[in-house]
Amino acid sequence: MFILFENENLYTLAAELGRELQIPVYSKEQKLPSFNKQAPYSFLVLTEKHLELQQSDNEMGPFFIDFNDKDLHYRIQRSTRKNEALARAVGLKKNNSPVVFDLTAGLGRDAFVLAQLGCTLHLFEKDKIIAALLRDGLRRTYKKNATNQVEQMTLHAGDALKLLADVAKKFPPDVLYLDPMFPHRTKTALVKKEMRILRSIVGDDLDSSLLFKEAQKYAKDRVVCKRPRHAPFVSDAPPSMSIKTKKHRFDVYLQHR
Ligand SMILES: C[S@@+](CC[C@H](N)C(=O)[O-])C[C@H]1O[C@@H](n2cnc3c(N)ncnc32)[C@H](O)[C@@H]1O
Repeated sequence: MFILFENENLYTLAAELGRELQIPVYSKEQKLPSFNKQAPYSFLVLTEKHLELQQSDNEMGPFFIDFNDKDLHYRIQRSTRKNEALARAVGLKKNNSPVVFDLTAGLGRDAFVLAQLGCTLHLFEKDKIIAALLRDGLRRTYKKNATNQVEQMTLHAGDALKLLADVAKKFPPDVLYLDPMFPHRTKTALVKKEMRILRSIVGDDLDSSLLFKEAQKYAKDRVVCKRPRHAPFVSDAPPSMSIKTKKHRFDVYLQHR
């Protein structure tokens, strides 16, 4: 992994990011060291507009996080506290606004939906590259609309297992939400581009049952776990209830049953 920056004005930013991610930084004009041409590799590109991820084989095209994209916008416009399954799963009612910890933030889409519906979100993302892309997406959204609910989203880059105790002390959470990467069918055409990108960078999440156990220690109200519709539960104990959508299931574990 490395960073390419588009022009000299971006050098300082790129160098800072390179130090943080501990990866080398090159300008676009520079001749790159030779990489293994056989295996497709990923790299970050810093442009005037955003930070994007590219693949050497360009199979998936450039990718950056855009909270204003068409699909998400469409979902947000139609989401209400009543009809959005995720909102029901976290227990959003007419007059409450829970503090939700998203322990597996990924591309931040679920968190963004909840923030738009009035929750306060703390996002945790352990993969450095995904966290950098997410921070860039949030920064651009803050800039664009200062009153946007995105202000209610705080990113904590790092492993939730390590950060949880400290952040929970400062901002006691009502709900802890998990959407771990699930080992997937290999028919990649059936999997959305975003998920393929996440998978190519992050791989499978092997810590989900541990994360779930930790989550139960801190949730005032509930722990919610998103699973593919027919996947087994994340723990041996069955959930208090499950809310199903066409593709997914939100398993809800109430703290006081
Ligand atoms: C399936 S994705 C989540 C997608 C997300 N719900 C969305 O709407 O974009 C799972 C993410 O959780 C992250 N993750 C897994 N275990 C984690 C942990 N212990 N702490 C922080 N992030 C974690 C992975 O790096 C991955 O990016």
